[in-house]
Amino acid sequence: MAEQYTRFKDISISERILNTVFLLTIGLGYVVALVNMYYTHQGRDGRPGLSIEDVIINYHGSATQTRLANAINGVMEPNLKYKSDKDVILRWINNGADEPEYTEKVAPILNRDCIICHTPSINPSLPDLSNYAGAAVVAHAGGATIPKLVKVSHIHLFGIAFILYFIGKIFLLCDINIYVKRIAVVIPFAAMLLDVLSWFITKAIPEFAYVVVASGALMGLSMGLQILLSVYQMWFYSRKPN
Ligand code: HEC
Repeated sequence: MAEQYTRFKDISISERILNTVFLLTIGLGYVVALVNMYYTHQGRDGRPGLSIEDVIINYHGSATQTRLANAINGVMEPNLKYKSDKDVILRWINNGADEPEYTEKVAPILNRDCIICHTPSINPSLPDLSNYAGAAVVAHAGGATIPKLVKVSHIHLFGIAFILYFIGKIFLLCDINIYVKRIAVVIPFAAMLLDVLSWFITKAIPEFAYVVVASGALMGLSMGLQILLSVYQMWFYSRKPN
């Protein structure tokens, strides 16, 4: 019989208060985390607000957002002797900034227009444009590095697993269909794993940014529903008759 398991009606008021302040604090923490995500990701594509482009640039990078492209589209543009050379450099960046194309097409431009300033012996603090290795540093698409993703992943997996476990433990005291319950406790964990996995995939395949957003949203939604249903049943629900 299901009666042998503890439900919200079986726990003390003090325990309900403790559960409630915990759940509300986690809910608030989640909202603040969303605001933090907004501020750290928005506007990367040059337009205010958070968009799928921002997510792609964050994980995958973008050829138009490299330091070199920004520089020759902006403050460094007047240093180019011929405006048409800008397209040569941008095309090289878009093609992946490899060495053969650098040597053939880009090095002559940089050597003519840029290395008067961009050479370590002259300005050690400026990007070195006197050789391929130096130019590649500012020409590659960027995005998150694997070490950075690994670091953020392990923090997320450890931290969020604890949060989801405690929310789930409380949620299990709800009086709802047991099959719904069994699936509901797995969903936020599965969504979190998919989210973290899709960061790595987005680094290689930009379209996966949609999976990052969808799985992140699913985790937030499923966690939020567990919190709301738990708080509701703790205080406003009692199964009659008894
Ligand atoms: C007259 C000296 C001078 C010349 C010539 C020059 N630069 Fe610069 N460049 C600078 C200085 C100074 C900075 C750092 C200050 C800044 O970012 O505005 C800089 C910064 C940069 C940066 C780094 C921007 C960042 O993200 O920090 C890039 C990339 C760059 N220049 C590319 C070029 C290219 C390409 C050319 C040739 C078309 C060029 N520069 C020619 C002086 C020069």
